[in-house]
Amino acid sequence: MELMDKAIEAKKNSYSPYSHFKVGAALLTKDGKIFTGCNIESVSHTPTCCAERTAFFKAISEGYKEFEAIAVSGDTEYCYPCGVCRQVMSEFCDKDFKIYVGDKEYTLDELLPYSFDLEK
Ligand code: THU
Repeated sequence: MELMDKAIEAKKNSYSPYSHFKVGAALLTKDGKIFTGCNIESVSHTPTCCAERTAFFKAISEGYKEFEAIAVSGDTEYCYPCGVCRQVMSEFCDKDFKIYVGDKEYTLDELLPYSFDLEK
């Protein structure tokens, strides 16, 4: 699968000298463009950015705000997006946004049900 291949490729740029856990992500926009990202760590931990958020923030800062799917590849077989990344996804994506992890496929609604909303 092309999107997962790009996530695996992006993992090579991971800057993870503290956890030694490499992650790559590839985010597909609704008009077919792919933005990749890797995790970028910090010695003081809190500034660490996950691969998924790197990909999202790259895309958003380039003017893209409509997304179809993301593929995530970590050093484990199934590297699921963390809660913070799921929350970022819910800011920009519909409930049917697709998340590929290993050989599995989910929707955002499956991985983040009952998400916070100011109007509910
Ligand atoms: N990490 C990601 O990049 N994405 C995930 O979905 C889970 C965790 C990163 C953060 C940190 O650099 C390393 O993995 C270990 O927690």
